[in-house]
Amino acid sequence: MPERPYVIDELISAKTIAARIEDLSREIAEEFAGTDKLIVVGLLRGSFVFIADLVRELDLPIEVDFMEASSYGDGMESTREVRILKDLRGAIEGRDVLVVEDIVDTGYTLKHVSGLLNARKPARMKTIALLNKQARREVDFNADWVGFEIPDEFVVGYGIDFAQRNRDLPYIGTVRFT
Ligand code: IMP
Repeated sequence: MPERPYVIDELISAKTIAARIEDLSREIAEEFAGTDKLIVVGLLRGSFVFIADLVRELDLPIEVDFMEASSYGDGMESTREVRILKDLRGAIEGRDVLVVEDIVDTGYTLKHVSGLLNARKPARMKTIALLNKQARREVDFNADWVGFEIPDEFVVGYGIDFAQRNRDLPYIGTVRFT
């Protein structure tokens, strides 16, 4: 990735994200009410900040596990070929599972991962994405919960990177080349 200077324009503030996570947590807790344990599966690496905030708001007994799937590499375009780089530690058969993704873009990643995990026969499985770029969808897949609908722009921050940079921003911003 050649170094091209860019600036980041704030799109969603840290406060707005926190408020939305409170609402989402309530809905998820209602959906999974009575569960003995919810396995919260974070898709690395972009979801690590979201999952950290989400589980601290969730009023449910939980366990956390992680998976890593390749999609963008270091560029700005999806490869459309999803490879599993890291699988779950634990089994999910007969368990309640929530898959946590940062962004649904073309949809290839979450569709592939959902299919894979569903084949392991969880009792109930739901998906949540912090951000959704509906305009970019190429496959028929929608997350059960979406934090925010966003336009077709490249975003960074709150765990989300551009070539591994800007994950540490507390807000979500769009990348604008200067
Ligand atoms: P999909 O398979 O095209 O839905 O891609 C989903 C993955 O692409 C996300 O988990 C992100 O890692 C990455 N991605 C999609 N859009 C963006 C973006 O705007 N900024 C950074 N990463 C993105």
